[in-house]
Amino acid sequence: MSEVLSGELKKGELLYEGKAKRAYLIVDHPDWLWLEYKDSLTAFNAQKKGEFAGKGAINKQVSSLVFRYLEKHRVSTHWVQDIDEGNLICQRLEMIPLEVVVRNRLAGSTAKKFNRPEGEALERPLVEFYYKDDALQDPFISDEQALMLGTVNKQGQLNRIKLEALKINECLIKFFSESQIELIDFKLEFGWNMGAAAKGMAEDSEALAPLVLGDEISPDSCRLWDQQTGERMDKDRFRRDLGAVEENYREVLKRVQERWEKEL
Ligand code: TMP
Ligand code: ASP
Repeated sequence: MSEVLSGELKKGELLYEGKAKRAYLIVDHPDWLWLEYKDSLTAFNAQKKGEFAGKGAINKQVSSLVFRYLEKHRVSTHWVQDIDEGNLICQRLEMIPLEVVVRNRLAGSTAKKFNRPEGEALERPLVEFYYKDDALQDPFISDEQALMLGTVNKQGQLNRIKLEALKINECLIKFFSESQIELIDFKLEFGWNMGAAAKGMAEDSEALAPLVLGDEISPDSCRLWDQQTGERMDKDRFRRDLGAVEENYREVLKRVQERWEKEL
């Protein structure tokens, strides 16, 4: 992505407000969005709400480091440029309405579903699709259901998403483990590059389609356990009322910054 000065960019209309971010258009840059990370915390489809000052800035900075790391490892991400601690510029994507979850150990919903102990190691990473629909509470779906719902056009595109998610998993395991954090599981969202030519490619050829990683990768969207103590350092602290939410989010940022900031 080309370097631009933040001073040249003018925030336009609010396009979309989600639970954790606001997306604004950018004057004269139709292919980009301005993402503002919010301080709110939600769980269980926003039935539980909280916040703390600086949470948005933490998630933005962790995400930005992760995206820069992934770009270095030839993963296409929507990250274009940082603006400041709580804002960044990203590509505008045509989002695929799937939440792609990758698990290295069983935890959360899948551990509960099969009545298995949290933390059980998996022989190989598990990839799961959930349909992104708040009204339906993001249900788990099969490949066939994902096709029936038109989330993508072809099975090949789902296969491609799975392969990309596994490649990202390999990268993220290393990214976090070098910060003494174990990556238990995480959620990804992908999109297609918006350009007209690119759109055609997305429909015609899964091999060439410009699949791009979007959204965020942060303590909100990952399970992160301290490598030594097993202490939870992610949104489960909020979901399960474990306390010290802010301290743990700050510790994740501190560790990944100490390890990666200079290198990326
Ligand atoms: P789960 O165990 O609740 O299915 O969550 C798996 C992973 O996905 C976990 O790291 C948290 C993340 N996640 C989100 O980022 N957003 C969501 O809406 C859900 C349900 C999970
Ligand atoms: N992301 C969802 C919410 O904000 C669910 C969760 O993370 O637990 O409500």
